[in-house]
Amino acid sequence: MDAIVALAKRRGFIFQSSEIYGGLNGFFDYGPLGSELKKNIRDCWWADMVRRRDDVVGVETSIIMHPKVWEASGHVAGFTDPLVDCKVSKQRYRADQLFFAAVVVDGKTVAYVSALESEKTTEELQSAAEALKRKKAIQGTLAPVAPKDFTEATPEEIPLIPSPATGEPGSLTPPRAFNMMFETSVGAMRDASSVAYLRPETAQGMFVDYKNVVDTGRVKLPFGIAQIGKSFRNEITPRNFIFRSREFEQMEMEYFIHPDADWLACHEEWLKWCQDWLKSIGLPESHLSLHEHPKEKLAFYSRRTVDIMFKYPFGVQELWGIAARSDYDLQQHQKFSGVPQVFFDEAAKAKVVPHVIEPAVGVDRIFLAVLASAYAVEDVKDEKGNVEQRTVLRLSPRIAPTKVAVLPLLKNKEALTNRAKALYAKLKKRYAVQYDDGGAIGKRYRRQDEAGTPWCVTIDFDTIEKEGDTFTLRERDSMSQKRITEAELFTLLEEQVY
Ligand code: GAP
Repeated sequence: MDAIVALAKRRGFIFQSSEIYGGLNGFFDYGPLGSELKKNIRDCWWADMVRRRDDVVGVETSIIMHPKVWEASGHVAGFTDPLVDCKVSKQRYRADQLFFAAVVVDGKTVAYVSALESEKTTEELQSAAEALKRKKAIQGTLAPVAPKDFTEATPEEIPLIPSPATGEPGSLTPPRAFNMMFETSVGAMRDASSVAYLRPETAQGMFVDYKNVVDTGRVKLPFGIAQIGKSFRNEITPRNFIFRSREFEQMEMEYFIHPDADWLACHEEWLKWCQDWLKSIGLPESHLSLHEHPKEKLAFYSRRTVDIMFKYPFGVQELWGIAARSDYDLQQHQKFSGVPQVFFDEAAKAKVVPHVIEPAVGVDRIFLAVLASAYAVEDVKDEKGNVEQRTVLRLSPRIAPTKVAVLPLLKNKEALTNRAKALYAKLKKRYAVQYDDGGAIGKRYRRQDEAGTPWCVTIDFDTIEKEGDTFTLRERDSMSQKRITEAELFTLLEEQVY
């Protein structure tokens, strides 16, 4: 993970927000290469989800909405995480990410140990228990630890559980509900009536505009409303780089279906669509898995939720949630606004409130998954047969920030640079391309490898001296080279960049 964070900064993919002021925890900026890559992820999703489908339309709704929206949706009352304070260190933890275990020797609890959630929580708790037994010279047989998260701690256990910050018990508070919505106020007066929220999800924009779309959009059930936009959550523990941040971007789609439709089949279809789409932008199937939320842990409005999980460098984590949200949201908005949220069922000659299947994903989480799985450091041989290392980002051409780098073999040979500049100008009209004439050709290839550019085109002496006006096309992953005409280059791009 450290190597990926370092590359992200070195090559201008991601910077810490407000870095010159020491940064702000949970906020990030995307640099020149990063903003291109992110835009490409968004554009591919929008093209596949909205423009290439006949049953999905797009919207762009405001970030700050009427505060009643969040009362109706349940966010004011229930969009909370369980927060635990350490009174000594002033650290804050999410109770469901703070684990503890009883240290049981010969069947008797002699103390407690704690650890923060990680891939190795159980191992860490076990070795903490062994260390504690050794330190206190307790004789007897230590039982294997049985980890629980802090939400399961009893009032009697809480004072006995050590804080991860100090290692001492007695300073952790019982969990309390912490609402994650960012508050702001609208207008010149600051009082209770001016309170508003930065949206914690884009989804409510689609529900609140449902009637507008039905009345104006010539849509028929089933149909979807999609949106890409920023969301904000005051996460207690933003972590793992851009994986969990406080300002992030979501791509969500609400698919409205008839209440009598086969919602389970529809849910399965979207689950497959989302997995196929992730593969289409280059995520390896081997890193994807599914997590079905157990019935007892489903959100109260959900009939079924399945997460597509991704194997990140820090463990397998949620990438994309696909939820069957029933008619909860439309019913709530109908109740709170007094405006019917219905669809006229021509066959039954009756008004129905549609149900919803919702695929909801974070752009930043896809970005991190893409970067982590594309990153490789490998040994390669240079022209003289010497082994050297190259860093390469094996990004799909669909989302690579630069599609082609145009390289004149020599910087000071006008016949070469003129041809290179002409090709560059032509390519630039349709694709993100770079012109690079600085340094040895091998160095320029390495620079492009590290930025994830799938192809380099070198304008060399064969281009200007031989018949056919061909260039050397160098392929990033195989490093193979072949000669290609301009027309063939455009055909290649047409096929691979869509
Ligand atoms: N409308 C449903 C909804 O928002 P969610 O599971 O809370 O569901 C959907 O969020 C997706 O948004 C997640 O699967 C994840 O990809 C992304 N996401 C959620 N919280 C995030 C955060 N703090 N930072 C980055 N991405 C986040």
